[in-house]
Parts: sequence; structure tokens; C-alpha cells
Amino acid sequence: MSVRCVIGVQWGDEGKGKIVDLLAADSDMVVRYQGGGNAGHTVVVGKEKFVLHLIPSGILHGRACVVGNGVVLDPEQLFAEIGDLEAKGVRVRGRLFISDRANVVFPYHKALDRAGELKRGITKIGTTGRGIGPCYGDKYARTGIRVVDLYDNGLFESRLKTNVEEKNEQLRALGAEGLDFGKTLREFRGWAKRLKPFVSETLGLVNDAITSGKRVLFEAAQGALLSVDHGTYPYVTSSNSDATGISSGAGVPPGCVDAVIGVAKAYTTRVGSGPFTSELDNALGEKLRQIGGEYGSTTGRPRRCGWFDLVGCRHAIRTSGVTELAITKLDVLDGLDTIRICKGYRVGGKVLRDFPASLSALEKAKPVYRDVRGWMKPTTAARRMADLPPEARAYLRLLEKELGPRVSMVSVGPERKQTVVTGGRL
Ligand code: GDP
Ligand code: IMO
Ligand code: MG
Repeated sequence: MSVRCVIGVQWGDEGKGKIVDLLAADSDMVVRYQGGGNAGHTVVVGKEKFVLHLIPSGILHGRACVVGNGVVLDPEQLFAEIGDLEAKGVRVRGRLFISDRANVVFPYHKALDRAGELKRGITKIGTTGRGIGPCYGDKYARTGIRVVDLYDNGLFESRLKTNVEEKNEQLRALGAEGLDFGKTLREFRGWAKRLKPFVSETLGLVNDAITSGKRVLFEAAQGALLSVDHGTYPYVTSSNSDATGISSGAGVPPGCVDAVIGVAKAYTTRVGSGPFTSELDNALGEKLRQIGGEYGSTTGRPRRCGWFDLVGCRHAIRTSGVTELAITKLDVLDGLDTIRICKGYRVGGKVLRDFPASLSALEKAKPVYRDVRGWMKPTTAARRMADLPPEARAYLRLLEKELGPRVSMVSVGPERKQTVVTGGRL
């Protein structure tokens, strides 16, 4: 399999960073194709912890890392990330290729994101405040500024002027302060200069890699249930954070991907607002949060925790054509005597097995659970399936049977070595 993709099949933070880092060891190129600085992908290497936001998680293996045209790029955040990596001895220069077609996140996008959320009050989405929605909004309204446009002096200046004027009106209407055009122009001329060595015609780079048989790994951000088209709209992010975004977000033919690895936690988490049928808004949810360290990698916000949700995961598997699963954080369930799996949503007297489109149906849905026995033994030292307690193997087999794709990897801790490669159907 030379072209693979890693996506999250829940609401993000499934452990994609860890899985991408592992698979990057036998990849030539790692490509991000959507999202932006809203992502926080953690990779633990020995005692060192890296949190990647815009740079693909393949950088730690020294792979060619591509930020595709579908990503929204915040130069300030990018250079902070490059600085952090370099301070830890990771070489980025010469390995990072940024699409000339990627849209740029400006300070007004971030200001509008935050002011918009404040205005929404209790109906807020709970965004990361990284300007993602407003930047994609401009992209689709065809008023965005792409990386390549930064180097077209006249065009850049006039577009930026129009945008700053328009956004300042919007910001003031929201009770926020406007931006200074001259200052923003100078600031971004500076960023453009620093970005230059990384800017590349990535369409050619990625397509040539694929056609010449190189091992290419696509890395999604967020999770399939946060996808703007297939997720819990409007409580989603503003891109196709499932495998459907690869073709448009990297400029590669649909159908070029040989394997889609769906990453799922052994339970479920969500940050921000929106429906979450199997949520545990109680002491047990708090216990999972503490044991699992469930606090946002980007914003530090506490993550909402709940049981594994087959309904949501099946939907994600179907829309992205997931071919295999990586189940992470199995160890977090080690101390529970009973584990529940949500196998259906009860809505108005009916039990739904398919994920509903309607927000009110999702908000009304009550979980229908199946209870399974916990294993009550530590799993963090497991390296082979045979090392796992029988109840843990039974839990994984049940997930495989209910979801369809085989479980190819099981993660039992944040470190690279805390991984079981299953080697076939369970
Ligand atoms: P991502 O956004 O999908 O890459 O996930 P995050 O990095 O936001 O969150 C996953 C968190 O779980 C990180 O802190 C990882 O280091 C950690 N993690 C990953 N796999 C495991 C695992 O199997 N067990 C435990 N306990 N932690 C894990
Ligand atoms: P990774 O890649 C979890 C959530 C936000 C909010 C919604 C919209 O680390 O899995 P946005 O800032 O994108 O407009 O926020 O999406 N969200 C994430 N949740 N993990 C992420 O990324 C997320 N990126 C965005 O919390 O609910
Ligand atoms: Mg994350």
C-alpha cells in the first residue's frame, strides 16, 4: 500500500498524531490537506512531548512534509511552531513544503472568530479561536488571500486594504476593535519574506510522489464527525476533516488512496459545543478525563468524555471508506469493571442505527447501550495481542465486528513503543 491516510473517526483528538508518527517511519512524504492551527497533534518520543498544529506529524522522522492547498495557514503560528521544533533539535528547513495555493489566516480572521463566538453566547460553537471559520468563509466567498498572492505586491496590497476595511466594519458591529491596515501590511510583508523558502508548488510534488510509487501518507486534522459536510452541523469545523477532503485539499485524484486508517479512542471525547449522545456528564466522565488527561492540546480546555459510540463511528467509516482501525487509549479503561458501548440512538420511540442529519434529532437522542465486562488489569505494557487480558481482546473484537474494518493497531499509552500491531482480524 503506497498511499495511505490517517483520519479521526470521532470528534477529534483520537490520537492521530501518535499513529501518523508511527506510520511516518515507513512513509516518504506526509501531507496535511485541511484544517489549520486549530489542530493539536501530540507525539511523545521518549521524555520529549511535541504538539504539532500546522506541520505534519511526519517531521519527527525527518520526512518530506507538505502543507496542502486545503490548509489555512497562520504564519505567526507556523513560525512559533518551527521555533519550538528547532529549539528541540528537529530540523524543519528543507523538509517543509507549503502550498502556494493555501489560504492565509489574517489577524482579522482570528478577531472575527472570537468576537463572533462572544456574540453567539450560549449558542457558541466553542471554536479554538484560531480564525478557521472566517478564513474558510473568505476562501469560499472568493475574497481570501492565498500564499502566492502575498508575492503579487499590487494585488496583495489592494486585496488586504479591501478586506481590512470590510472586516473592520464587521468587527465594530460586533463591538470589537478594528485593525490598522498599514501595520497589517507591514507585518505580512515580513511574514511573506520568512515564508518564501518554504513555499512550493505542492500539487506537482505530491502527484509526482504518488505516480513514482513513493509512500505518501495523508494526515487529517479534527475528526470525521466535525466535518463541515458530514458532521454535526453547525457544531463542526469549516473543512472536510474526513477522507473526502484529500482530493480537493491536496490536489490529487479521488481514488488515489489505497488505505484509510480510522483512528478511534476506546471511548469518546469532544471539545466545544454540540450534540454528544454517549456523553458522561458525571463523576465517571470526570474520571475518564483525569485518567486520559483529556484537556485540549491547542486550547487546554477540558474535553467532554463519554462511551464509545458505534453510531457516529459507523457514519464516519462509511463516508470516508475506512479500511482499517487504530484503537487508542485502551489503557484509560483499565480500571473500569463495566464498559458501555452505544449501539443505537433512541429518538421519539425509534432506535436509529444511522447517524441523523437533523440537529434536533441528535440533541434529543438517548443512547442505547450494551454493557461489556472490563478487564481491571493494566494494559500499558502490552506489545502483542496475547499480552492483553481476554476481556480487552473481547472488547476490541466486539468493536471490529460492529464497525466492519479490521483493527490493525491498538495503542496502550502515548509512547511509540506502547503499541500493538495486531497483524490481521482479531
Ligand atoms: P490528535 O489530535 O488526534 O493527534 O490527538 P491529541 O494529541 O490531541 O490527543 C491525544 C492525547 O492522548 C495525547 O496527549 C497523546 O499523547 C495521548 N495518547 C495517544 N495515544 C494514547 C494511548 O494509547 N494511551 C494514552 N494514555 N494516551 C495516549
Ligand atoms: P485535532 O486535529 C478537537 C473543534 C472545536 C469546535 C469546532 C470548531 O487536534 O483533532 P474551529 O476552531 O475549527 O472553528 O472549531 O471544532 N475542533 C477540534 N476538536 N480536536 C481538534 O483538532 C479540533 N479542531 C477543532 O473545539 O468544537
Ligand atoms: Mg488534538
